[in-house]
Amino acid sequence: MTVQENISLKQYTTFGCNEISRYFTSIPSQDALVEAISWCKEKQIPYFILGTGSNVLFTKPFEGLIIKMEVVGIKKTNETATNVFLSVGAGENWHHFVSYCVQKGWGGIENLSLIPGTVGASPIQNIGAYGVEVEESIESVTALDTQTNQWITLSNSQCAFGYRNSLFKKEKNRYLITTVQFILKKQHQLRTDYGSIKELLHEKNIKNPSLADLSNAIVQIRTSKLPNPAKLGNAGSFFKNPSVSKTNFEKLKTDFPELIAYPISDDTYKLAAGWLIENCGWKGVRKGNVGCYDKQSLVIVNYGQATGKEIYDFSEEIIQSVLTKFNVVLEREVTIL
Ligand code: EPU
Repeated sequence: MTVQENISLKQYTTFGCNEISRYFTSIPSQDALVEAISWCKEKQIPYFILGTGSNVLFTKPFEGLIIKMEVVGIKKTNETATNVFLSVGAGENWHHFVSYCVQKGWGGIENLSLIPGTVGASPIQNIGAYGVEVEESIESVTALDTQTNQWITLSNSQCAFGYRNSLFKKEKNRYLITTVQFILKKQHQLRTDYGSIKELLHEKNIKNPSLADLSNAIVQIRTSKLPNPAKLGNAGSFFKNPSVSKTNFEKLKTDFPELIAYPISDDTYKLAAGWLIENCGWKGVRKGNVGCYDKQSLVIVNYGQATGKEIYDFSEEIIQSVLTKFNVVLEREVTIL
C-alpha cells in the first residue's frame, strides 16, 4: 500500500477547496481496502472513502486516511428475457456507467444521467433526479463491514433506502462499498413525466423518445441548470428538500400562496428548498468567495479560493434565514467533515 502524506484535497473534491489530508491512498481492489482499514485501526486514526468527492465538504484538515476508491469494472452476471444483471465496481464513474447502459439499450437509470460521482456512492445517498431514484435499479450492495471485518452482500431491502438516505448514511463509515449489483430492464417504460423533460422533448419534436433521447435531454437540462464543477466548484444540491406535516404545509401555504410543495403521503408534504432559499433573497448572492448559484438556489458555489469553513458558514446563514422566515429546518445533503 502506498500512502502519501499531507495531500491537498483540492483536485479530489468537486468543491475544489484546498483542505489537507494527513494521509492519502488509492485502492484498486477489495484486498487493498482490507489492508488500508487495518492500517488505520493499527494507527487508531479515522478514514474516509472518497469517490469523486462530489458530495462532501471538508471544513478542516482531515487527520486520518483518505481512501480513494478505484475498484472498477462492469460485468454482466446474468441475463433473462426481460432483465440484465450487472456487477459494477464502486470506483466506476457514475455517468460513464449510465451512458454504457443507455448505449446497450438497458433501461432504469437514464434519468440519473450526468449526476457527478461514482457507482459506489450512488446507494449511499440513494441518488435521485427527474422522478427516479437509484434504489429502483439496485439488486444488492457488496461491502466490507468494518465492525465484523466480514464481506457482506446486502439485499435491496436491507439497504433501507429513503429519500437521499440509506443504511450506509445512517451507519456512517461502517459499510465500505466495493461493488453494486444492478438489475436493468430490456423493455423499459421511459419516465418522461417531469415538467422540464416533457417541455424539452416537445420543443425538439421528439414524440417517441429512445433511451438515448431521454438521457440527452436530461444532460441538456442539467447542464443548463447546474454549474459544471470543473468550472465552478460545487456539490450539486447542498440541501435536501424538507418534509413537513400537512398541517404545517397548509399554514405555510396560507401565509405564502406561491410556495412550491407536493404531497409524499397522506399527512406529509415535501417543500422545494430551492424556492424557500430563493424567497429569502439568496439566489445569485455572493459573499466573498462563496455564493448561492443564480440558476438554482439549492447549489452553493466556490468562486475559486473559498475554504470549506467559508462554504459551511454561508450554508449556516441560509439555514438560519429559512428558519426565521418559514420556520422550516433545512438539512444539508452534503457530507460535512
Ligand atoms: N425552485 C425555485 N427556486 C430555485 C430552485 C428551484 O423556485 O432556486 C423551484 C422550481 O421552480 C421547481 C421546484 O423548486 O418548481 C423544484 O426544482 P427542481 O425541479 O429544480 O428540483 P429541486 O427540488 O430543486 C431536485 C434534486 C436535484 C435534481 C432535481 C431534478 C434534491 C435536494 N435535489 O432538485 O438533485 O437534479 O430535483 O430532479 O432533491 C442533487 O441532489 O445534487 C441534485 C441536483
